[in-house]
Amino acid sequence: MRAVVWHGVGDIRLDTVTEPKIEQPTDAVVRITTAAICGTDLHFVRGTVPGMKPGLIIGHEGVGVVEEVGRSVRNFRRGDRVLLSAVLGCGSCTYCRSGYFAQCDDINPYGRRTGSAFYGAPRDNGSFDGLQAEYARVPYAHTNLFRLPDSISDDQAIPLSDIYPTGYFGAVIAEVSDGDVVAVWGCGPVGQFAVLSSFQRGAARVIAIDGHADRLDRAQALGAEVVNFNEEDPVEAILDLTRGIGPDRAIDAVGVDAESPKSGPAAARAREQDDQHREELRQIAPETHAHNGHWKPGDAPTQAHSWAVESLAKAGTLGIIGVYPPTDRFFPIGTAMNKNLTINMGNGNHPRYIPKLLEMVESGVVHPQKMVTQHEPMRDVLAAYEEFDLRRPGWLKVALDLTS
Ligand SMILES: NC(=O)c1ccc[n+]([C@@H]2O[C@H](COP(=O)([O-])OP(=O)(O)OC[C@H]3O[C@@H](n4cnc5c(N)ncnc54)[C@H](O)[C@@H]3O)[C@@H](O)[C@H]2O)c1
Ligand SMILES: [Zn+2]
Ligand SMILES: [Zn+2]
Repeated sequence: MRAVVWHGVGDIRLDTVTEPKIEQPTDAVVRITTAAICGTDLHFVRGTVPGMKPGLIIGHEGVGVVEEVGRSVRNFRRGDRVLLSAVLGCGSCTYCRSGYFAQCDDINPYGRRTGSAFYGAPRDNGSFDGLQAEYARVPYAHTNLFRLPDSISDDQAIPLSDIYPTGYFGAVIAEVSDGDVVAVWGCGPVGQFAVLSSFQRGAARVIAIDGHADRLDRAQALGAEVVNFNEEDPVEAILDLTRGIGPDRAIDAVGVDAESPKSGPAAARAREQDDQHREELRQIAPETHAHNGHWKPGDAPTQAHSWAVESLAKAGTLGIIGVYPPTDRFFPIGTAMNKNLTINMGNGNHPRYIPKLLEMVESGVVHPQKMVTQHEPMRDVLAAYEEFDLRRPGWLKVALDLTS
């Protein structure tokens, strides 16, 4: 079968590989019809999240049709249309039972003290083969698959695999509630869903920050007040918009590949921190390999959460959903401490939220397909990765069609 395989930093290929098989009675094999490319995949190709194993199939967002189930999977059968949750749980341990699927005790083959399990990810995250492939093995299929009614198309469903539950989780852990003023840092696909979810959870105002005008336009269309950090100092702009108080809640939807401002008043301040950012990047990601203008890591890994901490109101809450690797030891703890901030973070507990989000899509309350801006056949997947890596205008979310 065809699959996108990680061979090394800056080196992914469309390979022909062996099809997966049922390995455990709790497994299913799913024929993927639609997959997607995520900002998380970019961290692995850029090398800013280390620990990937050469030969691993990447991708963790998928929709498909059940091909085969193991004997302990009682809720699905061959032919069922399903959504695959990017984050995996066993559905039986005490963590899963209390909703912390991302901290499942049993699913990670490398032990219970390793990180959240998801497809196409480093050893710490279980090294499960990913979903940018014609077929995939789903562990603990009873918990990690969700039946799709015929009324929900692949396009409507694919954002529910990861980016919508992540954005929603961001609003939950940032403790967004009625009347709050929320700052969402980063307007990539995850940030867009963080904006939408903040409003769903009662935010009165959402201020969205990014350096790309096309992404800000989309956030504005969702109702956000927008700030371009390449045109104004975002901290000053946010304080100005909130009469000097700052937002109650902030969501970091950027992660380790954060960029520094390249123009405008914030650029001068950022230039003074160039050496510091370079040193942070060297320690966090010792192995990067930008070439031919591609796979360039973000040049300021601490920029987004530093701005978030600086601009938050006293006693505010920061929810971090942008991904940072275990090698990252930099956080403005002193500033956060002195403002009595609450900091929550982590990988989304997707199986906890997917049923509720699916219901909202089915009832027509939310139209997640609007975020899917690109549809590419699998044969063009590498070119699609390159465009998404460059954040080419208009390229917000790429869906891969596995059927063509
Ligand atoms: N926690 C989870 O479960 C989970 C799940 C999925 C994705 N993620 C993470 O969410 C993050 C976003 O994912 P995505 O697919 O939207 O990626 P993306 O790369 O498309 O989006 C990141 C956005 O942040 C913007 N940005 C860069 N530097 C910035 C700064 N200093 N301030 C404000 N904005 C800045 C970029 O211009 C871009 O629009 C990634 O780190 C990804 O790994 C986390
Ligand atoms: Zn993803
Ligand atoms: Zn579990």
